[in-house]
Amino acid sequence: MGYGEVITRSYDRQIDRARVEDLERRCEVGPAERVFLFTDTLGDPICRIRNSPMYKMLVAELDRELVGVIQGSIKQVTVQKPHEDLAKVGYVLGLRVAPLHRRKGIGSSLVCKLEEWFTANDVDYAYMATEKDNEASVKLFVNKLGYVNFRTPAILVHPVNNRMFHTPSNVQIRKLKIEEAENLYYKFMASTEFFPYDIGNILRNKLSLGTWVAYPRGEIVGEFGSNGQIFPKSWAMVSVWNSGELFKLRLGKAPLSCLLYTKSSKLIDKFLPCFKLPAIPDFYHPFGFYFMYGMHREGPLSGKMVRTLCQFVHNMASTKSKDCKVIVTEVGGSDALRLHIPHWKLLSCPEDLWCMKALKNEKKKTLRELTKIPPTIALFVDPREV
Ligand SMILES: CC(C)(COP(=O)(O)OP(=O)(O)OC[C@H]1O[C@@H](n2cnc3c(N)ncnc32)[C@H](O)[C@@H]1OP(=O)(O)O)[C@@H](O)C(=O)NCCC(=O)NCCS
Repeated sequence: MGYGEVITRSYDRQIDRARVEDLERRCEVGPAERVFLFTDTLGDPICRIRNSPMYKMLVAELDRELVGVIQGSIKQVTVQKPHEDLAKVGYVLGLRVAPLHRRKGIGSSLVCKLEEWFTANDVDYAYMATEKDNEASVKLFVNKLGYVNFRTPAILVHPVNNRMFHTPSNVQIRKLKIEEAENLYYKFMASTEFFPYDIGNILRNKLSLGTWVAYPRGEIVGEFGSNGQIFPKSWAMVSVWNSGELFKLRLGKAPLSCLLYTKSSKLIDKFLPCFKLPAIPDFYHPFGFYFMYGMHREGPLSGKMVRTLCQFVHNMASTKSKDCKVIVTEVGGSDALRLHIPHWKLLSCPEDLWCMKALKNEKKKTLRELTKIPPTIALFVDPREV
């Protein structure tokens, strides 16, 4: 028996909301033999793109059954140095095809439809990120649709527990006003790859908890960055986004050893605190997370400043949030910054794969050249695309 025709159309909240959530629940992301994460969008499947300047969600229907979804957003970012060279990038996000309908061309057709929307909006490059070992996704985008491997940043994850980190007394931490943070971003990060032109929108979003700087106490007279002039020799900055307000995560499958370790470490932590074994939070119930973005550092002592800021964010999550169980950040694969960011290897992903495709003929050569040169060390990972 043949199949009916697959119909692709824009997402309609009234008709599709519950069906999209159901599809999301049935779709595993990541290889079957490994732990995978479920996303709970809290009744708003479009929550991950809603904060972008332009966005779209498409659904695919087959015989009135919802069999696939895809989301996309468009914005201007820095793709090449010098930073004057802005490009319009279309982000491909949240592609899911119902398990029983895979390998029928639905995934590729959804991507192509989204690319048509990008092209109609004058997009230069399409972008997508996937786990390096997600074979279906890599083969679909790279082998079939002509995307090229572009960067391989590392996703670093640290669990939040109730042990507070001590902030060294010789380090000063200060929260910046939004305008100060915005100025700092334009001054120091505008040439960073993928830096978004609308950084002000991110900083002003209610999910942005703030931007902090850390520097050696007493190194400067006056306020940090006042008049755009006074900076200590060493300093670091970070902004924090409360992703848990948008959607929750839950561990879907875990090796028994992980489950046992979770339970036993909690018991040990409770009864034998002298072991100093960090308790792994319970990841089997929906939990929120903080995303650290826009991390930047200057000067010889900046590694220590980065570490202190990360610990400060951990303490903030532990005391101010009810359900933030992990702190997540993503940094360039060859960026030495990762050495200073506390994270657990068990929970982190050393190589996330970012792929790009030039949608205009004149950009094809540029993309080829960009993939040949070593990546600029720093990458900006927009919290809206997490
Ligand atoms: C990845 C996914 C969207 C693919 O959807 P799909 O509708 O099956 O994809 P298509 O039928 O269009 O496949 C196109 C090509 O991709 C490749 N491909 C797709 N699934 C594959 C698999 N499981 N193994 C190997 N190659 C695969 C093949 O080259 C295929 O062409 P072919 O069937 O002619 O050989 C789907 O497997 C899925 O929903 N996975 C879970 C969610 C996920 O990982 N999303 C991607 C996150 S970026």
